[in-house]
Amino acid sequence: MNREEALDSIKANVENENMVKHMLATEAIMRALARRFDEDEEEWGLTGLLHDIDVELTEGDMRSHSKLGADLVRELGASEAMAHAILCHNKRHGVSLETKLDKALFCTDPLTGLIIAATLVRPDKKLAGLEASSVKKKFKEKSFAAGANREQIALCSEIGLELDEFIELGLAAVQGIAADLGL
Ligand SMILES: [Fe+2]
Repeated sequence: MNREEALDSIKANVENENMVKHMLATEAIMRALARRFDEDEEEWGLTGLLHDIDVELTEGDMRSHSKLGADLVRELGASEAMAHAILCHNKRHGVSLETKLDKALFCTDPLTGLIIAATLVRPDKKLAGLEASSVKKKFKEKSFAAGANREQIALCSEIGLELDEFIELGLAAVQGIAADLGL
């Protein structure tokens, strides 16, 4: 599977533009993490890109979310490692995070929400001027973008990253695709 095929499949299954943007942002951070750790950038990037592909098909039913997604990406030709990371990013199934890829996706997923929320409260609503220091500050404000699970983001420690570095790397990665996100 290549990126174009992955994107085609997302277009066929996800209408909500913000959800597609979330998946693009997750891809960007996963690629940056793969480069940081000398891992397979395509594999990590496509895992991030595809991780919520079933979100509309499952209509928000967390009992099937990510199970269906894992099956779908297998059909698209994703590796078992990718399917596993996608499956266990939803804690509901009780499948433990095993590989570095599993853990990277798990902590990246909520970081995108925090970064995008921090962008949207800026007067210009642009990623370009957003500083890592203000994302770090927002991280500590528990009521800000409360859906972006802080404990989950902090699990970056499990892949060997300090929170500060994770936020810096994540912000730079998302800023790199600002035009695609319209932010
Ligand atoms: Fe997600």
